[in-house]
Amino acid sequence: MTIAAEYDRFADIYAVWTETAASSRANLAFYVDAYLAVEGLVVELGVGDGRIAVQAARRGRDIIGVDLSAAMLARCRRRAEEAGVLHRLTLIHADFRDFQLEAPASLIALPYHSLGHLLTLDDKRQALTHVYSQLRPGGLFIFDDFLMTPALVDHMRRVQLRAEYRSPAGVETLLWVTSLVNEASQVIRVVTWEDEADAEGLLTRRRYRRLSLSWLEPAQARSLLVEVGFEVEACFGDLARTPFSPDTAHEQVWIARKPG
Ligand SMILES: C[S@@+](CC[C@H](N)C(=O)[O-])C[C@H]1O[C@@H](n2cnc3c(N)ncnc32)[C@H](O)[C@@H]1O
Repeated sequence: MTIAAEYDRFADIYAVWTETAASSRANLAFYVDAYLAVEGLVVELGVGDGRIAVQAARRGRDIIGVDLSAAMLARCRRRAEEAGVLHRLTLIHADFRDFQLEAPASLIALPYHSLGHLLTLDDKRQALTHVYSQLRPGGLFIFDDFLMTPALVDHMRRVQLRAEYRSPAGVETLLWVTSLVNEASQVIRVVTWEDEADAEGLLTRRRYRRLSLSWLEPAQARSLLVEVGFEVEACFGDLARTPFSPDTAHEQVWIARKPG
């Protein structure tokens, strides 16, 4: 299944998924601040349901959002409409590797581990090369990636109850998650399932969904950025901008600049 098809299928639980993720509040504030801090064109790759972009638009920022999933883009449009900021968003249905801007961007962001949806180093290289081509000289590229420690691998492999909620149809639902983590290929298969129960608590329906992800080691991320031509301005170990240290970091957050 392609990543677009995976996200088309994932779209209706994406909001529950992010609302119950520890990292999503921190990355929201981090990226909104970054979007507001620059002058000129701001692009979010993998804009998803507009969780970050719409928040920035509400604060007066125009944003170009790129995404490959039609279902996620439809949710983004709806969220922007409900917030009264649809006029601030330009949505492009395209891949990280081939989106075309009408003018070079000042900032291109790729939040929430989304580079990991490209599963091979070659695909990531192609994406970063393309991002570079779409930036103005002096423009910024910001992205974050997992920092895969043995503790995180262990955590991901566990079956976890992620959320308990009522579905839009009013049905009691439990959302579960676990992951297959292949450390040799640096690929993760996230498997989620929702269990719906009747008034007696008996299981009436189970639905599985999957997402394919991967990660870069910090040294790989740095060398890809340099190979493509970026200057690495900073690497943080979390979304509070703590300088990266292998002992304390729990994310890798890269700020890279196109020279110019
Ligand atoms: C983890 S979500 C992030 C959404 C949003 N940025 C956020 O932080 O909530 C990843 C998004 O990237 C999109 N995506 C994945 N691979 C893509 C690709 N190669 N090109 C464009 N979009 C892609 C997915 O459809 C999905 O909406």
